[in-house]
Amino acid sequence: MDTTDMGDELKDVLITADQLDQRLQEMAADIDRDYAGKELLLVGVLRGAVMVMADLSRKIHTPSQMDWMAVSSYGSGTKSSGVVRILKDLDQDVTGRDVLIVEDIIDSGLTLSWLRANLLSRGANSVRIATALRKPAAAKVDVDVAYVGFEIPDEFVVGYGLDYAEKYRNLPFVGTLAPHVYAH
Ligand code: IMP
Ligand code: MG
Repeated sequence: MDTTDMGDELKDVLITADQLDQRLQEMAADIDRDYAGKELLLVGVLRGAVMVMADLSRKIHTPSQMDWMAVSSYGSGTKSSGVVRILKDLDQDVTGRDVLIVEDIIDSGLTLSWLRANLLSRGANSVRIATALRKPAAAKVDVDVAYVGFEIPDEFVVGYGLDYAEKYRNLPFVGTLAPHVYAH
């Protein structure tokens, strides 16, 4: 899928595929440096993190395993409450593991804050977070994010795993939607 498939539904390309690729390369280098001599358990949060996980994990040299969680945040409408329900749990035991949560975007940060505490309570040795994108609201929550791809403005974005009504996840770039897409 690319810009030509978007017709008039695309407002702007915010981050190109090349920019994403380059930034993920830098993040992978940081991760390799920080985890030298260790083994990583990469935990992806379904479904948005699929693209970031695929690209970031292939750039990492540190020996890694991969696992997935699906969570749903109880909340009213679009605001997450921080109360989280596990829809799909990890297959692997995190006891003693160095866990890196891989995310597409951090908005309120409430979901990740809960997830991090949850994995630590199960006995993980360490839990860090890597995200492709971060919105300004995330700064208000006390969740330490070790690896951030891009700080973006407080606008709804799609592509590179991120959806609007389950669409646009397969765009190779991050873009903003034209207002009329929301209107109906
Ligand atoms: P929060 O950080 O707990 O508020 O939740 C972040 C989650 O909300 C992400 O994992 C996405 O699934 C979703 N989300 C937040 N902002 C956007 C956006 O701009 N586009 C698409 N999904 C978003
Ligand atoms: Mg997500």
